[in-house]
Amino acid sequence: MKPLITEKNIRRRIRRLAIEIVNEMGRGEETAVIALLDGSFMFLADLIRELYQLDFPLTVNFIGVSSYQGNTRSSGRLSWYRRPPLSAAERRVLLVDDILDTGLTLNGVQQHLLRQNPTVLKTCVLLKKSKTRSFDNRVDFTGFTIPDVFVAGYGLDMNGRYRELPYIAAMTES
Ligand code: XMP
Repeated sequence: MKPLITEKNIRRRIRRLAIEIVNEMGRGEETAVIALLDGSFMFLADLIRELYQLDFPLTVNFIGVSSYQGNTRSSGRLSWYRRPPLSAAERRVLLVDDILDTGLTLNGVQQHLLRQNPTVLKTCVLLKKSKTRSFDNRVDFTGFTIPDVFVAGYGLDMNGRYRELPYIAAMTES
């Protein structure tokens, strides 16, 4: 499969992203990093190790939420399979997601966390599709903007496949 984004470019961009995060959020207080499962696991693993190199104090927790039902089109509904294990109240939160597509998933999670009154809520996505979105998502840190194609690799899957690829590839529905 032909890479849309190479392993080398991913590594280089994540290093820069970590610097952007530290510059904007500061090192002072501990940040609760909340990652959206499943697709963000590889991105999260690399991002937090870069943040560690920069002495950024953090905790890590996971949220399981999906708007996809095993195919390449959004079902339009949000279903939780792992609710946030901690409250975002009075915390500095960095929400980490793999990809911003329609924006439905991230919008639902952002609203949920904002209702708990975090002191700061910042959002970081690895990929953002360049198309116009139906939701007005606030994203503070973006790895790459990509064309409106279905992608897999580097944690992202197509029916469970291709997550292990160290790069991101564009897929066709066939
Ligand atoms: P929405 O449309 O709610 O979708 O922004 C976000 C979630 O849907 C999944 N998604 C994808 N997964 N390749 C994938 O492997 C894609 O091109 C893709 N587009 C959306 C993903 O889980 C994301 O968090």
